[in-house]
Amino acid sequence: MSKYVIGNLKMNLSSLAELERYFKTLKNELKGKNFKNAEIIICPPAVYLQNFTQKVKNKKIKIGLQNIFWERNGSFTGEISPIMLKNLGGEYAIIGHSERRGYFGETNEMVNLKIKLMIKERLMSIFCFGETMEERGAGLTSGIISSQIQEGLKDITPSGLEKIIFAYEPVWAVGTDVIPTSNGIMEVKILVRKILTEKYGMKYAQKVAILYGGSVKAKTLNQVCLDPGMDGVLVGRESLNPVEFLKIAKSLDV
Ligand code: 13P
Repeated sequence: MSKYVIGNLKMNLSSLAELERYFKTLKNELKGKNFKNAEIIICPPAVYLQNFTQKVKNKKIKIGLQNIFWERNGSFTGEISPIMLKNLGGEYAIIGHSERRGYFGETNEMVNLKIKLMIKERLMSIFCFGETMEERGAGLTSGIISSQIQEGLKDITPSGLEKIIFAYEPVWAVGTDVIPTSNGIMEVKILVRKILTEKYGMKYAQKVAILYGGSVKAKTLNQVCLDPGMDGVLVGRESLNPVEFLKIAKSLDV
């Protein structure tokens, strides 16, 4: 299976000058580079979706959004639907990121509705889950992750599962430069694989990609991805720097 390297640009690149600078550096860095076993996806702020699908999307790089709504269209002020994503050339959306859960009250039920519409539209969901420090401290990690996954996957069939990439992002590792041990990450990967095997059977569960996210840097890739045998990474801050981001992609393109 090739490795996923996903950049979540979050609410950054706030001026057009910054955006242009980003494109320029990215283009320069991509020159002469080929990626055989790394699937690179960049998720810009939604207002730049078309800039990215027109200027960045190519054989090497795919484009996604950081959030999506669960209806096709209608009176939902401020929301963006999977149809719009698809029509503008995007193929992925991050769903259930801890910042959406924490700041905007996104629940497991909402995550489930979003994933279900993405599947119907044949788009890929990047399904984020993970525990907070308090939950970890109280010994609730596996219970929390199990319910996030079970509820997020409610009524989703095995063929739907093929449209989902799983991303374990411990909330306490996001934006903090604190990272879990390889063993800690591996334990979660095993837990997720077990939940999926019980629900869908081995044949489907083993095909699913499980990524790690939270303070990923080129120099910590061994600890957070290679040693625990993860299928890729979801990168925040380091994805704003195309040099570092592509360094990560290169290291995983083995
Ligand atoms: P950082 O890499 O900045 O910690 O962010 C991780 C993240 O939230 C990616 O979705």
